[in-house]
Amino acid sequence: MNQELKHYIEKNIFPLYTRYYSHGMLHIHQVIHNCLYLAKYYHLDLNKAYTIAAYHDVGLSVSRENHEKESGKIFKKDQELQKFFSDAEIEEMKQAIEDHRGSRKEPPRNMYGKILSDSDRDFNIEILAKRQLATSIKNYPDIHTFDEHFERCYSYMTKRIEGFGHFNLWTNNPHFIEQRNQFEKNYLDKNYTKEIYQKEWERISADGTIEKIKNYYLDY
Ligand SMILES: [Fe+2]
Ligand SMILES: [Fe+2]
Repeated sequence: MNQELKHYIEKNIFPLYTRYYSHGMLHIHQVIHNCLYLAKYYHLDLNKAYTIAAYHDVGLSVSRENHEKESGKIFKKDQELQKFFSDAEIEEMKQAIEDHRGSRKEPPRNMYGKILSDSDRDFNIEILAKRQLATSIKNYPDIHTFDEHFERCYSYMTKRIEGFGHFNLWTNNPHFIEQRNQFEKNYLDKNYTKEIYQKEWERISADGTIEKIKNYYLDY
C-alpha cells in the first residue's frame, strides 16, 4: 500500500467519523479489513480497496437516505486523491462508493463496488450487537429496557434472514459465504444471540455509552 495515501486518509478522513458510533471507526476499520481481504483474493488494487472503504460512509454527514451518493461526491471533490489515482480510477471508485448499499437490487457497476458492498456486511454478532443496539436506542427513545430493544433488533434481523433467504453477497467469496452461513446459524439460536446483546447492553449502560449515543453521536 502507498503509505502517503494511507497517512492522508488517516489524518483527514478518519476524523470525519468521530461523531459516529454505528458508522464510526470500529465499522470503518472492519470494512477496510474485509475490503483488503477481498481485493487480495481477487487480485485487485489494494490502494483503491482501502480508499473506497475509508470514504464509503462519509456522506452520512450530509444525508441519511442518500449517503452513498453524498459519499461519492465528497470522494470525487477531494483533490488530494488526484495525486494517487487517474481520472478513470477515480470515476471507477466513485461508482463503487455509490453502489455500496446492501439492499440494492441491481449488482454494483464494477468489481470494487461488489467487494465494498460485501465488506459492509456485519457477519459478526458482537459487532452487530453494538451497531444494532445503538441504532435502536437512537431511533426508539421511548423504549427503555434491554428486553424491548433486543426483541426489536432480533425480529428485524430474523425477518431479514428468514424472509429473504441468505444475505446477498455479490462476490460469492467462499470465505464470506462461510462466515455468513455461520453467522446466520448462530444468530437464529436466540439464547446465544441474546447473551451477546445482553453483555453489550451491560457494557454500554455501565460506561456511559448509552448517554453518548443519545446526546453526542450523530448516527441514527
Ligand atoms: Fe453505508
Ligand atoms: Fe458502511
